[in-house]
Order: sequence, then structure tokens, then C-alpha cells
Amino acid sequence: MPSPSTNRKVRARALRKPETMARITASVYTSHVPAIGAALDLGKSAEPYWQPVFAGYEFSKQWLKANRPDIIFLVYNDHATAFSLDMIPTFAIGTAAEFAVADEGFGQRPVPKVMGHPELASHIAHSVIQQDFDLTIVNRMAVDHGLTVPLSLMCGALDPVKDAWPCPVIPFAVNVVQYPVPSGQRCFALGQAIRRAVESYDTDLKVQIWGTGGMSHQLQGARAGLINRAWDNAWLDQMIADPQACAATPHIDYVREAGSEGIELVMWLIARGAMSDVNPDAINSGAAHAHSVGVRHRFYHVPASNTAVGHLILENP
Ligand code: DHB
Ligand code: FE
Repeated sequence: MPSPSTNRKVRARALRKPETMARITASVYTSHVPAIGAALDLGKSAEPYWQPVFAGYEFSKQWLKANRPDIIFLVYNDHATAFSLDMIPTFAIGTAAEFAVADEGFGQRPVPKVMGHPELASHIAHSVIQQDFDLTIVNRMAVDHGLTVPLSLMCGALDPVKDAWPCPVIPFAVNVVQYPVPSGQRCFALGQAIRRAVESYDTDLKVQIWGTGGMSHQLQGARAGLINRAWDNAWLDQMIADPQACAATPHIDYVREAGSEGIELVMWLIARGAMSDVNPDAINSGAAHAHSVGVRHRFYHVPASNTAVGHLILENP
């Protein structure tokens, strides 16, 4: 039974003119394999090994041009690049005006620098912290392949100086590298909080939220090279259709079924939690799934380097 205050909140939300607030229009999900970035940077994307990988993003590049957001909120993980064992934030939001492209040992990738959006990032930090999530605020950070490879897959090869990414990007780093890592449940709830934060920003902005990393892969140890096609696809089915249930997947299931680096998939649940069909107010009012998200594109390919590549575009109604 929804409480009177929940009903008031639902009505207030319904009455608010969508023109006067920022809103999440779509979510994009993709693996971030560093070798994909190298293939693009070295002009190898048409080679027989790589062509089927890049083919899965042809539609997506056109879609992004036709559905260009004002801002991308990009959930990714740092791979001991900006952070090290010295400092391990679970959730870190980039509030700077720009972010350098990291040198991960082979020089910087030849891609444009990443322009941030300090105003919206600060607003989201304030709102999400007030909703009881402890974020680390980062005013200087180099971004690694976890962030730049998804941008390259969705935008294609760009000149590092003459070109720019299509819009500002707010980097949101999640620790999935050093245990303890956050649960899928917490990531999903965080996505819901980010959606409330975006929708309380009184400027008409179209925001996309991207969840990156995954799918099954393990880079070290006795099971290095593990890929689990059946588990990945069942996880995708559930993540789309019943994200609440998917969020309840215990972290040990990711490790067992999708390999030690498969845990990167919890980042997809942040983006999924920000979509409108999982709005908790709507669920309380009994209107859950009245407007389900649309699957615009789905792609899966094995392998790219040591990784199963998964990619989805979901649109809000
Ligand atoms: C690979 C995949 C990753 O997610 C990563 O961060 C590093 C390497 C790989 O498949 O090689
Ligand atoms: Fe990774």
C-alpha cells in the first residue's frame, strides 16, 4: 500500500514539466577490452579477427549520432591507473572540467581528452551523498581504457587534437579490482539514486548513462581465459527483463560463472538502475513496468582478446 507521501511524490513527479529538468534518455552497456582500443588506434579494425567485433558497433555509432546526449555519465572501473593500492575508493565521481587520457604503459591512447561537466557532477555528488551513498570526489584523474575504449567503440576513431568526443563526460569509477567490491544490489540502488539526482537538476539536459566492463573473462590464475557464453546471455536476458532479480546475483556467482574479471558486470547494474522502469516511486504506486524500456540494440561476440564482448542499448520510453 503506497503511503500518502509516496503518492504525493508520484503526483509531483508527474506534474513536473520534463522540459525543465535533466533526464536520462538511454543507457549504453559495453565491454572495454584494451586490445580493442589498440586495434582501432593501429588501424587494424578491418582485419578478420577484429572486423566481427567492430561490426557489432556499426548500428551504435549511427544511433549515437542520431541520439546525441548533452552529457554522458560513464560508469567504468579504473585498473590501478589513477588509483593504486594506496587509495581504493569504492565509488568515485569525477567533478573536474577535464580529464587526461592515461598512459597505461604504452603511451597515451591517441584519442581526444575527456571534457567533464563540473556543475552536473557536483549536483549529482551532493544529491547522491545526501541519499546516503559515500562517494569520493575526484578533482584530478587520468582516465584509462575502462573509459576510453567504450567511447571509441561508440564514436569510432577520432583525431586526438582536431576532433572531440560528442559531449562532456562525467566519469564515475567503481572499484571492482581490489576486494572488497560492492554488491550488484548496492550498484543497482546507486543507479536509482543517480536517476533521482539527474531529475532534480533544473536544466533541460539529455543525459545518457553508460555501464561498462564485462562480460565473462578471467585474466590470471588457473582459469585464465575462461568465457561462459551461456551464463553471459542468460545474465543479459535477466538484466533487461528483471533487473531487480539480476541485482540480487551474489558476487561469488560472477566469479564462479564469469571469471574473476566478470565482476565488472556489476557496473552495468548502476546504469540499469537509473532507467525509468525501475523507478522506486513507480514501483510503490503499482505502476512498475507500465512503461518498460526498449532494447534498441544487442550484440554478443566471443572472443576479443581474453574477453567475451557484450553490448546493449536500452532506451527509456
Ligand atoms: C582484458 C580485459 C579487460 O577488461 C581488461 O581490463 C584488461 C584486459 C583482456 O581481455 O585482455
Ligand atoms: Fe577491465
